[in-house]
Amino acid sequence: MTILKKKIEKIITEQGPVSIADFMNIALTDKNNGYYRKKMPLGSKGDFITSPDISQIFGEILGIWILDLWIKLEKPKNIQIVDLGGGRGTLLRDIRRVLGDKIQNYIFIDINVELIKLQKKAVKGALHFKKIEDIPKKPSIFIGNEFLDTFPINQFVLSKECFKEVCIDYKNQKLIFSHQVTSLSKTLDKKKLNQVRVNDILEINFESRNFIDKVSSFIKENNGGAIFFDYGYTSSHGDTFQAIRENKFVNPLDDPGNADLTAHVDFNDIAQRAINNLVNVWGPDTQGTFLKKMGAIERFKALESVSDNKIKQELHLGLNRLIDIDEMGKLFKVLAITSNKFPSPEGFTCGTRSS
Ligand SMILES: C[S@@+](CC[C@H](N)C(=O)[O-])C[C@H]1O[C@@H](n2cnc3c(N)ncnc32)[C@H](O)[C@@H]1O
Repeated sequence: MTILKKKIEKIITEQGPVSIADFMNIALTDKNNGYYRKKMPLGSKGDFITSPDISQIFGEILGIWILDLWIKLEKPKNIQIVDLGGGRGTLLRDIRRVLGDKIQNYIFIDINVELIKLQKKAVKGALHFKKIEDIPKKPSIFIGNEFLDTFPINQFVLSKECFKEVCIDYKNQKLIFSHQVTSLSKTLDKKKLNQVRVNDILEINFESRNFIDKVSSFIKENNGGAIFFDYGYTSSHGDTFQAIRENKFVNPLDDPGNADLTAHVDFNDIAQRAINNLVNVWGPDTQGTFLKKMGAIERFKALESVSDNKIKQELHLGLNRLIDIDEMGKLFKVLAITSNKFPSPEGFTCGTRSS
C-alpha cells in the first residue's frame, strides 16, 4: 500500500469522508509523495504524452500566434511569455525557436523538481517560479497546455431531496465513493441548476475558477493574454474524473500518488468566469479548428518537403494526432482571454468582448 493511501485512510477514519478535491490535492501535490512532486509523468517513459512532445508543429503554431500579437502590439521589448505547468520544456523551446531573439523574457511556472531540471536545459535563461503571484509584473502572454486539468474538481449528485457531494469514504479496508451532504453541497441552488436531473453528476472546478480570477487580474493590471488547451467540453458532461498510469486508465482510488488524476475541463464555465472578470474571451474552439486556421497543415507541408521518408511519416502521424477529430482535434479545446488594451488574437471562430 502507498504512503499516501495510508495517509488518506487515516484522515477519513479520524475526520470522515473527504471530497474528491481534497483527495486529488493530496494525491497530486502532497509535498513529499504527491504525483506531480515526485514522478516523471510525461514523455515515452512517463504516464502520458502531450501535444508539444507529439509534434513540433504544436509549439511552432503557438509561436506564430504569439508573433502575430507581438507585431500588432508594435513589438514591445519588455513582454514575457509564461508557460504554466511547462512539462519537459518542449513547448516553450519550440515557441522560442520561432520568436528568435524578438522576445527575451521566458518564464516557467511549475512544481515538479524533475521537470524543472528538464525545463532549465530546454530553455536556457528562462526564469522559474512556483506560482503566478511571484512572477515579474510585466505585459505577459500565458500559455497553459494541459494545465487547467491538473486542478482538483468537486462532484455533486442531485438526489431526490437535495444535492449531495460525491466524497471518498473508507469502508471494509477499501476506499470507496459515497454521497454526503456537505457545506459545499448545501450552497448549490437546485433551481439555478435546472439542466441537472436526478442522479446526474455535476462537476465544478473551484480552483480553476480561482486561477482564471488570478490570470484575469494580472492581465488587467499589466496588459496581456492567456491561451489554454485541454481536453474538455462545452456542455454538461457528467462524471469525467479519471486516473491514468502508464498510458492506461486505472481506478482513481487504487493508487493515490502513483497515477495522474484529472477531470475534463468545463470550457463554458472558464469562459463565463473570464467574462465575469471583464476580460475578453476567444473561443472555445476545438484544437483541430484552431491549429488548421493558424496554418498547421501548411507548416506540415513545408517540413515534409525537406524530410526523408521516416521523418515524413512521423510528421504525418503527429499532425493527425493533433488535428484529427477522432484523436485530439475535437476532444481538446482551446480558449484565450485578453485584456481590453490587447489586440484580437488569430485562430478563433468566435469572441466575446467585455467592453
Ligand atoms: C499534464 S502536464 C502538462 C505539461 C506541458 N504543459 C505539456 O504540454 O507538455 C502538467 C504540468 O503542470 C505542472 N503542475 C501540476 N500541478 C501544478 C501546480 N499546482 N502548479 C504549477 N504547476 C503544476 C506539472 O508538473 C506539469 O509540468
